[in-house]
Amino acid sequence: MRSKSRKLDTLLAHAGRNPEANHGVVNPPVYHASTIIHPTVAAMEAAQKNRYAPNQVTYGRHGTPTTFALEEAVAAIEGGARAVALCSGMAACAAALLAYLGSGDHLLMVDSVYGPVRNFCSGFLKRFGVETTFYDPMIGAGIAALFRPNTRIVYLESPGSLTFEVQDVPALIKAAKAHGITAMLDNTWAAPLFFKPLALGVDVSIISATKYIVGHSDAMMGIAVCTAESFLPVRSAASDFGNHAAPDDCYLALRGLRTAGVRMRQHQEQGLALAKFLAGRKEVEKVLHPALPGHPGHEFWKRDFTGSSGLFGVILRRGIHKRAVDAMLDGMELFSMGASWGGFESLILPTHPERLRSAVAWDTGPVLRLHAGLEDLDDLIDDLDRGFARLNAAS
Ligand SMILES: Cc1ncc(COP(=O)(O)O)c(C=O)c1O
Repeated sequence: MRSKSRKLDTLLAHAGRNPEANHGVVNPPVYHASTIIHPTVAAMEAAQKNRYAPNQVTYGRHGTPTTFALEEAVAAIEGGARAVALCSGMAACAAALLAYLGSGDHLLMVDSVYGPVRNFCSGFLKRFGVETTFYDPMIGAGIAALFRPNTRIVYLESPGSLTFEVQDVPALIKAAKAHGITAMLDNTWAAPLFFKPLALGVDVSIISATKYIVGHSDAMMGIAVCTAESFLPVRSAASDFGNHAAPDDCYLALRGLRTAGVRMRQHQEQGLALAKFLAGRKEVEKVLHPALPGHPGHEFWKRDFTGSSGLFGVILRRGIHKRAVDAMLDGMELFSMGASWGGFESLILPTHPERLRSAVAWDTGPVLRLHAGLEDLDDLIDDLDRGFARLNAAS
């Protein structure tokens, strides 16, 4: 695209497309490839030497023009220099961490991080001699007290998984930068629309594109958006682990990206309406939604974000028995139960933050996570209403 200063919705529609190079076809075609052949030894050596240069095709594992189109589009949208597409969001989290960590290093990890990343730190990284300290998501500038001479990374996820605390990103980044510590942030909740971590000094923005970018619950994809400095370390770590984003899935991610703007605005509206409905229910103790006043970090959400996605949580009243929650969830007709989120459909899950916190204990009644899909709002409210009737009947 000619101008780098286009607005977000324009970038969503145009970034990463090049119809002139593809016979006028609107979308970049899917290139399936392993071997890439070269006409001369010199051409082959040049390709190998420049294997991470933009649009350089050297081997299927390092990407094809389909991969590069997706990477270029997401980098433009997030304001990054380059991006790296990987086979899943979890692979992107792991590659970003492994790009910077070595044996003997110390990692500061937010306590409300996505569960499998917590396990990666407590298991894999520990085995390889990396020590992790989990920190309170609301610690802000106080993070500096946790720095050690060997602290290499501060890893943020904002809002946090399951409990949705919004972090004071500028305060955390300022402290990290003052000590030369690399900062990375899982931006999946807001991506690709409502938050731009690189503009606040984050070095790597990690997105599970499986969620809102793919948007249709039919492909896995991770993207690490990098600065000019962080690109090579992350790209090399991804390659060293043999990581590869499949071309058909890159195509699906690109197709999803084109409509992500309208979808996310609708997810936002539905999510807010459902959150307000739930806040008025007697069975509900508290709604965990960054856009609601009183939510931990709501003031940071107002300052740093331009909107909210469709994922949020609910704390039910203490004393509501598991049997009653199960009765509610087992009979849902429109809200389905299953891992992941960000597709067009509504989801509901019982969650257990108390099992995944070590810096700050979590002690509340039962917790649910909801994803507001694109169904009719009245139908969704009706489904929840009937669910609460089952919950009360089983209480
Ligand atoms: C916040 C967050 N980050 C990362 C991931 C991992 O993404 P994927 O499922 O694409 O591996 C998830 C998945 O649920 C997530 O919720």
